Amino acid sequence: MSTVRFSIVGLGRLGRRHAGNLAWHVPGAKLVAACSPVKEERDWARETLPELSLYAAYDALLADASVDAVWLVTPTSLHATQIIAALRAGKHVFCEKPLSLDLTECDAVIEEHTRHPHLQVMIGFVRRFDASYRDAFDGIAKGAIGRPFMVRSQTCDKNDPEGFFVRFAPTSGGPFLDCSVHDIDLARWLLGNPKPKRVYASGTIAIHEGLRECGDIDNGVGTIEFEDGRLAVLYASRTMAHGHDTQREVIGTAGVLSVAIRA
Ligand SMILES: NC(=O)c1ccc[n+]([C@@H]2O[C@H](COP(=O)([O-])OP(=O)(O)OC[C@H]3O[C@@H](n4cnc5c(N)ncnc54)[C@H](O)[C@@H]3O)[C@@H](O)[C@H]2O)c1
Repeated sequence: MSTVRFSIVGLGRLGRRHAGNLAWHVPGAKLVAACSPVKEERDWARETLPELSLYAAYDALLADASVDAVWLVTPTSLHATQIIAALRAGKHVFCEKPLSLDLTECDAVIEEHTRHPHLQVMIGFVRRFDASYRDAFDGIAKGAIGRPFMVRSQTCDKNDPEGFFVRFAPTSGGPFLDCSVHDIDLARWLLGNPKPKRVYASGTIAIHEGLRECGDIDNGVGTIEFEDGRLAVLYASRTMAHGHDTQREVIGTAGVLSVAIRA
């Protein structure tokens, strides 16, 4: 197997975890560079990761010819422009979810990619690579539950009394775009990629009153009607008392498949 030379961009909450995986745990990957505008984060990379090039500016990283691929773990508001810049610099891209909070930006990324078909672009929908979900996917393909017609799916985070999500609210896009994006991706994947026809949603603030200022919520429910009549029902929460709680059921004409992860 040939080695892919990666650079990590963003060394925050999740970026540090991705950096460690790329440096030590992913066969075929070599972490050769990292980028963050924050000096303390670059210092962390220098002290913690194997020897690599460090950049404060993303443009400078993109000019590094020793980098084959960028691994974006930056704020969501930067994803689309950073993917487009990487493609123009001839780099493959992995980017954390969601692609963007703006549909026009999503379309711009897809259009830019058509100009660089030899480059790979992947958004990190981690659950598609989880053995439990793959097992459900394979079971559905083998007809284990007959014709699947509904996905009931939730992504619910443990309550953070420090109010991280209140500070995150101005840029997060809210729980549907930030959390339910996983459920929406899974529902489409498990139901064979149907197109949505209509969406209904509603939400409430159960705990974090500070979210009101951004027009945000901490608990929400949604229903998606797909063009072929199938359904997805979503629940997103920031306030679970007992911990992170993701669950989904795929309901078919001959049975139900269920995956739940509580941590
Ligand atoms: N897949 C999942 O389940 C999951 C979980 C958590 C976060 N995420 C996603 O990961 C992304 C990052 O989240 P986080 O919680 O790590 O955020 P964070 O705020 O902790 O980290 C963001 C990082 O980006 C860096 N950064 C900011 N501007 C930059 C720029 N112009 N160029 C390069 N780096 C820049 C910051 O210095 C920081 O290191 C978000 O899009 C989020 O939605 C996904």
